[in-house]
Amino acid sequence: MKIISVVGARPNFMKIAPFINAVNAYNNSNPEKFVNHILLHTGQHYDVRMSESFFKRLGIPDPDINLEIGSGSHAKQVGMTMIAFEEVLLREKPDWVVVVGDVNATLACTVTAKKLNVKVCHIEAGLRSNDMSMPEEINRLVTDRLSDLLLTPDKLSAQNLRKEGLPEKNIRFVGNIMIDTLEANRKSASELSVAKIIRDNNLLDTIPAKSPAAMPGKDYRESELLYAVLTMHRPSNVDQKVILEPILNFLTTEVAADMPVIWPVHPRTEKMLKLFGLWDKAAECQNLFLLHPVGYHEMLRLNMHAAIMLTDSGGLQEECCVLGTPCLTLRWNTERPVTLKEHGGASVLVGNNIDRIREEYRKAVKSGRIPQRPDLWDGQTAKRCLEAIINY
Ligand code: UD1
Repeated sequence: MKIISVVGARPNFMKIAPFINAVNAYNNSNPEKFVNHILLHTGQHYDVRMSESFFKRLGIPDPDINLEIGSGSHAKQVGMTMIAFEEVLLREKPDWVVVVGDVNATLACTVTAKKLNVKVCHIEAGLRSNDMSMPEEINRLVTDRLSDLLLTPDKLSAQNLRKEGLPEKNIRFVGNIMIDTLEANRKSASELSVAKIIRDNNLLDTIPAKSPAAMPGKDYRESELLYAVLTMHRPSNVDQKVILEPILNFLTTEVAADMPVIWPVHPRTEKMLKLFGLWDKAAECQNLFLLHPVGYHEMLRLNMHAAIMLTDSGGLQEECCVLGTPCLTLRWNTERPVTLKEHGGASVLVGNNIDRIREEYRKAVKSGRIPQRPDLWDGQTAKRCLEAIINY
């Protein structure tokens, strides 16, 4: 059997790492049924910090094929990926294409494969925000409609697929593959020093003259929750000044007054802060630490002992759930409801309304850490994904 697995952007890398390990383990114990695996990177994310460092640190082999698509509008990214991927499929003739998540690479490679009658397996199928203004929602809908095998991270996602009329025989509830990566890397992440992460990833030319006492040190104890972590990259939060500026003001004047705020800044967000003339305000805030995008282990370490996470990332919502970090999700909806407090998770939807963010922020900092583990978020999902493909 020949499988091409596709990755394109940062959140794909932690989903494919355990799948590759599962293929290798299977091949070691079943040499007579060898799975020929090809890893393809579309190159949507191309920076060392957004891409290469993840491959190295997660032990993902170098991609066998890199389409080097780079950045661009959605249509450009999708169109260029489809043209380049079609050539690969005609040459390699795989039995299966495995796609993960909901980025442009996921959509582009699914459509291309199906048009050439190649079977598609979607890992992380069935997530729905029901918000069609989100590019990822369109990617999810099209990918799931076309996929032969729909591997869902939770039961709510499997129900979404049934409601849309997708055939039962194509749906399998396998659990959350991201949690395989979290469990495999939890120990090594816990050994990192938060102060060193801040120094090594500082985005400014100089370390600002901030009080070293405010910087969470390496002898910092678990019982002391000292800092907030922020990540933001969604167009709905960062592409308009009227939305981005009040969020920045809230951070600099209110959260940073309570505790240090650690902010690994996505390239899109850095570009917009500079464009809107907000960069200096962020850089000058004495208790706000602006970092480059950090590696997987570094983010896991920051998350492990944060007093609070403010984020618009879907993956971080899930990691906060398992680690127990109180999480304010800077969105009005989520495709991952299983991570919400009402379903036993750690996160609350706060959108980008400052009054609502403030109210939930005050509650969350008092609430403490309560780890949760939804069904089958057990670190063994990749094996179930591969079994589903082999037994299809
Ligand atoms: C993409 C995904 C999103 C995911 C996010 C995580 C889609 C539709 N969206 O959004 O689901 O949560 O990645 O990071 O696929 N850039 C760089 N270096 C890079 C990558 C991007 O500088 O390595 C800059 C480029 O200027 C680019 C901008 O960031 O225009 C946005 O990148 P893009 O790939 O369009 O989407 P993301 O916002 O990263």
